Amino acid sequence: MNTIKLPLLKRQYLELEKLALGAFAPLNGFMRQKEFVSVVDNMRLPDHSPFPLPVVLDVSEEQAQTLKKESLLILTFDGVDVGEVQIEDVYTCDKSRVTAKVFGTDDVQHPGVSHFLSMGDWFVGGAIKLYQRVVFEFSEYELTPAETVLHFKKSGWNTIVGFQTRNVPHRAHEYLLRLALEQADGLFIQPLVGRKKIGDYCPEAILEAYNTLVNGFLPKERVLLGVLSTSMRYAGPREAIFHAIVRRNYGCTHFIVGRDHAGVGNYYGKYEAHDLTRQFDGELGIDILRFAGPFYCRKCDGIVTERTCPHFESEPQYIQEISGSYLRAMLSDGTLTPPGELLRSEVLESIRHIQLFIDEETE
Ligand code: ADX
Repeated sequence: MNTIKLPLLKRQYLELEKLALGAFAPLNGFMRQKEFVSVVDNMRLPDHSPFPLPVVLDVSEEQAQTLKKESLLILTFDGVDVGEVQIEDVYTCDKSRVTAKVFGTDDVQHPGVSHFLSMGDWFVGGAIKLYQRVVFEFSEYELTPAETVLHFKKSGWNTIVGFQTRNVPHRAHEYLLRLALEQADGLFIQPLVGRKKIGDYCPEAILEAYNTLVNGFLPKERVLLGVLSTSMRYAGPREAIFHAIVRRNYGCTHFIVGRDHAGVGNYYGKYEAHDLTRQFDGELGIDILRFAGPFYCRKCDGIVTERTCPHFESEPQYIQEISGSYLRAMLSDGTLTPPGELLRSEVLESIRHIQLFIDEETE
């Protein structure tokens, strides 16, 4: 049989690994054209199961011309064979139509759109095998779905809330985490550490901040912290469903979707992800915990929500929204210190010596 080699970028190697570990189940390989089209158009795989985002192996047109159906593609990373694809399909798409569907916009200012456009124009679909796990700076913090499922079982947790994040935890995050711990046996905090855009937090800072929060301020025996190494897509509501499916695969029974989940700029409505996830209720194999707010109210003197604070509408002058972008802007200025009611001072202290923001894009 014909075998060809293809060097992978790190983000592609990470996708291969997630597929092999079952993190993207029910996918068993990079999407074939039929799956890709169905997912883009209907947010479902051809068998009707929900799946909202493409998972593709992109190649250039030149590379695509060398690839033939039914041949074996050996995937390499840094010169080492790390896996394979049994080629079932080599295809392309109308990228601008796809971005409009997947991201709700074809605006090149949108980081997910611009990245999708910059990827290879052709895709290779087929079942995969992984020969070797990815080794990277945060490997020791990465658990496989089999490992988390075992941890939940050994801990005797029947209900586990999954939490996706790409930020250093602020007080609104903390409030959501506590709400989860009120309801469930365990909490799985899984910061995403794959490819992200310039200006997002560095994984080191996120992990250090979460270590401080979990060890000092949460019942740590009921919390598991582990990273998810996959690209951030910035696809808002669709990505909320994707994030939920992935956490289901890690053994979570519940998943938090808060305000502007996986959003960027003003592309998505604050609670658009709540509405979209509702359309899939009962089908995802994981229950969505939809949370509004929270924010700081000077009159209540605490973190509250629209449902618990009487001043939200009548006396909005007391309301201080807690937005990740606002805190990031304050921290990147360097001269401003976010107040403790928005960002816990101990958390801030623990990341003072670390580079906070990504300053260079990596593939
Ligand atoms: S992201 O992947 O969704 O971009 P982020 O760290 O910003 O990660 O948010 C993690 C989770 O907390 C998401 O479910 C998000 O909707 C929720 N969240 C973040 N900030 C707030 C806030 N101020 N109020 C309510 N939910 C929030």
